[in-house]
Amino acid sequence: MNIVLIGFMGCGKTTIGRKLAVRLGYHFLDTDHQIQREQNAKVKDLFQIYGEEQFRHLETDLLRRLCKLENTILATGGGILTTPGNLDLLRSIGITIYLKTDLEDICERVSRNDRRPMLQTENPLETIQQLFGERESMYSQAEYIIETQSLKMWHIVNKIIQNL
Ligand code: S3P
Repeated sequence: MNIVLIGFMGCGKTTIGRKLAVRLGYHFLDTDHQIQREQNAKVKDLFQIYGEEQFRHLETDLLRRLCKLENTILATGGGILTTPGNLDLLRSIGITIYLKTDLEDICERVSRNDRRPMLQTENPLETIQQLFGERESMYSQAEYIIETQSLKMWHIVNKIIQNL
């Protein structure tokens, strides 16, 4: 069995995914980290050199190669569902779980660093609001929705396990 974590930037997919993997004795894989390893470049640099469209191709190409994963928690980049067809690919990989976080929490978390290329805009707050508005309905197509608001990491991990 595999578990696929989806959700907006800063919702905790990587941190929660790692903890969940430890609890379940599963492997952990993060699409951004895997792309970085394969391309030998940071996501931010890939965006800068090749642009968003090429990065989305890299995401889809990776997903197509992940169909044989086993006992793995897969954390995904926040924009992965913007490519048509990726939701189906993710569903074929494992159980999809949306880590639902409110806008306020997201703004607080993503403002802690500047490594997110999608937010290198004149008004990052406005960009977050816009992207969140566009993507919320995509994430909501996950099989399970876990509300993470103000919950401690271990609590979120427990909630996911209880829902499986
Ligand atoms: C993106 C989210 C990032 C990363 C890339 C694009 C997005 O992942 O894939 O910067 O479009 O929302 P995180 O969700 O881990 O920040």
